[in-house]
Amino acid sequence: MRLVSSRQIEVGAVLAQDVYAGQSGIPLLRRGVGISERYKRALVENGISTVWVDDDLSEGIAPQTIMTEETRRKTAGAVGNALNEAKHAMKTGKGLSDTALADLADMADLITQEVQNTPDIALHLADMMGADQYLLQHVVDVTALGVLLARRTFSDHGWVDFTGRRRYDGLESRLQKIGLGLLLHDIGKLAIPKEVLDKPGKLTEEEWEVMRRHPVIGCDMLGEDASFLVRAVVRHHHERLDGKGYPDGLAGERIHQFARISSVADVYDAVTSERTYKSAAPPVVGVGIIQSGSGTAFDPEVVAVFNKVVMPYPPGYEVDLADGRRAVVVDVDVNEPYRPHVRIRNDDGSVEELERAVLAGHEDGGAQQAAA
Ligand SMILES: [Fe+2]
Repeated sequence: MRLVSSRQIEVGAVLAQDVYAGQSGIPLLRRGVGISERYKRALVENGISTVWVDDDLSEGIAPQTIMTEETRRKTAGAVGNALNEAKHAMKTGKGLSDTALADLADMADLITQEVQNTPDIALHLADMMGADQYLLQHVVDVTALGVLLARRTFSDHGWVDFTGRRRYDGLESRLQKIGLGLLLHDIGKLAIPKEVLDKPGKLTEEEWEVMRRHPVIGCDMLGEDASFLVRAVVRHHHERLDGKGYPDGLAGERIHQFARISSVADVYDAVTSERTYKSAAPPVVGVGIIQSGSGTAFDPEVVAVFNKVVMPYPPGYEVDLADGRRAVVVDVDVNEPYRPHVRIRNDDGSVEELERAVLAGHEDGGAQQAAA
């Protein structure tokens, strides 16, 4: 299957996956459905910018997802319930209940289990939700990506304990902790007014001030019982390596390793997701932002792991070749992410394959990007 823009989808194209809009759990359109003009309009009107289709170009292309769609929906539902409860608790001045925390911990375990079983490259965060679902979906996707980055970081470099020692024991329980922290990372946003959260365009200085409180509010909402590791993620996921982040302006290793991993996952997902005020940027843009922030915003060790895990041109995506043609990515070699294996439909209708395609803007093979 391959990914096409809803605006450009051809009438008659066949959907390769169910498409959901809203929280009902009932698909807007089902897999196997042929696209008509009316369906095409429905996709656009529901804010679904891209869909997966099956055609002659997409044969054998299997996008690598971190989670099954089922886990994704199940965890999003549980996070939704916990958030609703937290909203209620907030009004009465209480923190998250033990039950809500326990439910979320179960979801963190489920995500961790699933991430343990995925190969660690070329993932695709299936982005077929409309922008209104952003908060829930974002939380689940960031969690999955963060746990995946953590798994690789911990196995390559170890996890850093409170004495600064690098350790390789008890990985699974560390992954569950970072997973729970990630599920809760933006919980403080419940206290931020909607006008500020969803504002299209730039925030004013005062609005920023309000926005920047969410990590601290979130941490307060957790209550005393939440573990130190979970709190570190919630409080410090917006800190920057150079000390220019918030809320505490911590720098370097003073930012907990779990928070350093979380910030990479959070920023990448924010850039590549639909929001009420912006459409999703393609993976190559998200990858560029993470790479250019290495050493300033982000921990280079985490960025190096990220580069092995997230591909700028994942299978199923459309790309522009240097010779002006459009192609679909079939496969990608982690060591040469800017030279993917692609498939092209020629003007006479025939399908052509290129092993190491030269992409527009990456004529040098992406050497610059890799070095950045
Ligand atoms: Fe945040």
